[in-house]
Amino acid sequence: MPDDSSHKPTMVTCTAPVNIAVIKYWGKRDKDLILPVNSSLSVTLHQDQLKTTTTVAYCRDFEEDRIWLNGKEEDINQPRLQSCLREIRRLARKRRSNKDSTSDMSALSYKVHICSSNNFPTAAGLASSAAGYACLVYTLARLFGVEGELSCVARQGSGSACRSMYGGFVQWKMGEKDDGKDSLAEQVETETHWPELRVLVLVVSAERKPVGSTSGMQTSVETSKLLKYRADSVVPGRMDEMISAIKRKDFAAFAELTMKDSNQFHATCLDTYPPIFYLNDVSRRVINLVHRYNSHYGETRVAYTFDAGPNAVIYTLQDHASEFVQVVRHFFPAETNGGQFLKGLPVASTTVSDELKNAIGMEPLPKGISYIINTKAGPGPRIEEDSDLHLLGSDGLPK
Ligand code: DP6
Repeated sequence: MPDDSSHKPTMVTCTAPVNIAVIKYWGKRDKDLILPVNSSLSVTLHQDQLKTTTTVAYCRDFEEDRIWLNGKEEDINQPRLQSCLREIRRLARKRRSNKDSTSDMSALSYKVHICSSNNFPTAAGLASSAAGYACLVYTLARLFGVEGELSCVARQGSGSACRSMYGGFVQWKMGEKDDGKDSLAEQVETETHWPELRVLVLVVSAERKPVGSTSGMQTSVETSKLLKYRADSVVPGRMDEMISAIKRKDFAAFAELTMKDSNQFHATCLDTYPPIFYLNDVSRRVINLVHRYNSHYGETRVAYTFDAGPNAVIYTLQDHASEFVQVVRHFFPAETNGGQFLKGLPVASTTVSDELKNAIGMEPLPKGISYIINTKAGPGPRIEEDSDLHLLGSDGLPK
C-alpha cells in the first residue's frame, strides 16, 4: 500500500473485461450471497473492444465514500456495492494484521472515491455489470494490497462478475456450502488456447429496456419447474461436455451446446410466470439465419447465444467470420448514420454468393441490427500503469 499520510489522494486505475456465457447462470439459491442454482461457463471478451475502466482513490480528507458511473454520481449505499467495499476492507485488515501487527491501517478507515466508465455505449444494452463489479473489486484489491482469490468478492457484486476476474474460458462452480466459500470462478483455458475463435456482438436496435436479470431470475426460481429441471438434470452434464469441447477445440460441439443452452435459458424465461421475453423479432430472425447458414454448409460454422436482452452474440471461427458478417449485412441492411457497421477487429472482404442468399431465403429486414462488434477471447483484469489515464483528478473528483 502506498504512502497514505498525505493530503493528496492515493489512487489506482484498472480495467476489466465483459464475459459472455455459453452455459448460462440463471437463478439464485441465496440472494444475499449471490449463490447460483447451477454452474456456468463463459468466454472473456478482449478488452481492446469491450472493457470497463475504474479508478479508486482514498484520502484522509475525503468526507464520504462516493461513486461516479459513466459521468454520473450514483448512490454508494446500494447493498451490492457495500458488500464489495466491506469484503475488500475486511480482507485488507486480515492480511495486514497477519503480516505485520505494527503496520499502519489508517488508510483502511479513509473514505474512497470511485469513478468508472465503459469503452462501449451503455445504450448498446451489453451486460456491463459483470465488467463493472469485476473492475471495482480488482481495483479496490490493488489499492488496499489484497491478493489471492477475489472472484468470491466480485460474485457478491453481480453473479456473472466472478467470471470476469479471469481471462479466456472461465467456469463459475456453483459450490455447495451455505457460506458461498466454494462458489467461485476458475479458469478452464487461457485466452491463447483457441486463437481462431471469434465473437461477433450483433447490437439489435431495441425499443424498450427488458426486465433486469436480477428480478427476472428470481421470478424464474419461484415459478419455473423447467428451471429446476435444467439446474438439477441438464447443466451438470452440459458443463462437462462444454469443458471437454473447449479443451479439444471442437467447434461443432461447442457451438451446438452453446445454442442449446441459450435456447433452454430462454425457454425457462417463457416458463416463468408471468413469462419473460428477452428475444424479439430480430433475435428470432438471427436464430433462423444461423441454422439456415449452417445447414447450407452441412456443418456448424456459427453459433448464437442471447442474454437478458435481444442482442445476439455469435461465436464462429476466423475463417468464417468475414462471410458471416456479409450475410448479416445483407439480411439486415444497416442505417449507420455515417457510423461504421463493423467495429472492432477487421475482416477480409468477401461477397455472399446468390446460392447462399437463396439457401437462407429470408426477406432482408432494414435497420434490425445497429452495428456489429468483432472481438475474440481476451485476458482478465489488469492494472493501468499510465497515471495520465486515472479517471479522478488530484482533487479526487472526476476529470
Ligand atoms: C443472462 O450476473 O447480471 O447474463 O447476479 O443478479 O447481478 P445478478 O445477475 P447477472 O445475470 C447474468 C445472467 C445472464 C447469464 C450469464 O451471464 O450467465
